[in-house]
Amino acid sequence: MCGIVGYIGKRDVAPLLLEGLQRLEYRGYDSAGLVITGKPAAGKTSATLKMVKAKGRVRDLEARVPKRFAGTTGIAHTRWATHGAPSDENAHPHMDPEGKVAIVHNGIIDNADELRTKLVSDGVVFLSETDTEVVTHLIARSQAPTLEEKVRQAVRTIEGTYGIAVMHADFPDRIVVARNGSPVVLGIGEKEMFVASDVAALVSHTRQVVTLDDGEMATLKADDFRTYTTEGSRTSATPTTVEWEAESYDMGGHDTYMHKEISEQADAVDRVLRGRIDDRFSTVHLGGLNLDAREARGVRRVKILGCGTSYHAGLIGAQLIEELARIPADAEPASEFRYRNPVVDPDTLYVAVSQSGETYDVLAAVQELKRKGARVLGVVNVVGSAIARETDGGVYVHAGPEVCVVSTKCFTNTVVSFALLALHLGRIRDLSVADGKRIIEGLRKLPAQISEILATEDDIAKLAQEYAGANSMMFIGRVRGYPVALEASLKLKEISYIHAEAYPASELKHGPLALIEPALPTVAIVPDDELLEKNRAALEEIKARSGPILAVAHAPQEKADHTIVVPKNETELDSILMGIPLQLLAYHTALALGRDIDKPRNLAKSVTVE
Ligand code: AGP
Repeated sequence: MCGIVGYIGKRDVAPLLLEGLQRLEYRGYDSAGLVITGKPAAGKTSATLKMVKAKGRVRDLEARVPKRFAGTTGIAHTRWATHGAPSDENAHPHMDPEGKVAIVHNGIIDNADELRTKLVSDGVVFLSETDTEVVTHLIARSQAPTLEEKVRQAVRTIEGTYGIAVMHADFPDRIVVARNGSPVVLGIGEKEMFVASDVAALVSHTRQVVTLDDGEMATLKADDFRTYTTEGSRTSATPTTVEWEAESYDMGGHDTYMHKEISEQADAVDRVLRGRIDDRFSTVHLGGLNLDAREARGVRRVKILGCGTSYHAGLIGAQLIEELARIPADAEPASEFRYRNPVVDPDTLYVAVSQSGETYDVLAAVQELKRKGARVLGVVNVVGSAIARETDGGVYVHAGPEVCVVSTKCFTNTVVSFALLALHLGRIRDLSVADGKRIIEGLRKLPAQISEILATEDDIAKLAQEYAGANSMMFIGRVRGYPVALEASLKLKEISYIHAEAYPASELKHGPLALIEPALPTVAIVPDDELLEKNRAALEEIKARSGPILAVAHAPQEKADHTIVVPKNETELDSILMGIPLQLLAYHTALALGRDIDKPRNLAKSVTVE
């Protein structure tokens, strides 16, 4: 979704805003803009707001910023269009005709049409098609004496989600921000303040941050800030320290963030295991779980909720919990769950999965569950994110910042986090010491085995060249392999734009086999587990119909045209490794097709709207 950056202090603001936008461009990238101001002229109390906007990338905006563009306060925005096509007019910030008010916004205003109609009937002339512009006019037309009150009136009038930052020419000494459903983080500097929709834009300046909650606002001045509710009562803002160094947001010598993040997986898995394994009792310690052994024994079912890749990780997590802890478990897209008026069961443990911790569909599902008294854990990457703060406890996946729109290292770390959770629950119940030891040994082997797989990248790149011409691809797997097929299919389609679908291998004969022909390659997940012969039978069915096959397996498969061999781990953990070569397959296929790997069309890294 959109990226928001703001600064107030003594430094030249335009370069700071542009650098911040570049850090956030992965969140949304079809247009961008900024507004700055300086001190009022001598004898004046009002300042002048200066704005530049551009359709396209941040570099297109940068090209339009005048050489002499001085100011020490500003807000900026990189957009992922929801209302109104990408264009200069629809780019943020949005200003009123008098140039008094400027606002940047992330989120969706549900009652924008109704408010626009009323404002137009009052004679307001709109310059854009966006929902955001409505807020600009509400603030500009407010008669309230302070900027805080003007903004409070506006946010109490709108319905929907917002993360907004507002500047006003008559109040040049401050930026007012507000949050409801879309992230807003304050960065605390030395006699300067920052605001952003993601810590990625702040960490090169400060790691002291304050994350606003829904319904919270803040006033930023050069040497001070205060937080309060939309009703006006003060709130206590406790700064936290961002875990990740600024350097970890750099590309580190790789051509793309995706390649960097795929390559980091051995270290990332090492990080998620660190300090959590208890050899004495062949189990793991999960500090932030907030679920004691007695409560864990009372869990009768586990329901995992997530979106996209996180949902796929949840599917594997559900299998791990059933296999290791023998607790009935399943995963469901969060967006489906919240709209079917779910029966919330007090003996069910709910687990929300999210890399960003800001995905609106997941956050809304968590809030609905909490409203109904459910216990909800979070398996999240971004520390202090909305979902992490909304849940009763959980497991941080410690993947480090994941900048690429498509998730790779965080998927792997999330699945490993579920393996830890499953082991923890299993050893509280009936999982034996021997099995606990076996799983721990398997977990400890993962980093080296991941490195082994990554070392075969050149071979996988060659295969990608061969398949890059396909119009569509089929991915199949069975039981543990099926979520791997789902995730690999998503990876391919979201960065190469090749249509792909995943099917349970056993379902092929119930219809999809009709698609099999020489032009349709099938990627088959064929682990050496109790289903190996069944999977080989599926390969026979495909081969008999001249379908090309790329197998991912623990040994070459006779019926496959090519096999990517991955190292064998414990059967329960094999799916963690089998997906990694298919990340590289998607990457190199997209590369061969000249796609924009880190910013695929139509997508955004964190979907903070419905
Ligand atoms: C990942 O490859 C996708 N871009 C997307 O499906 C993502 O996993 C999904 O939007 C959920 O994001 P989250 O993990 O931050 O909640």
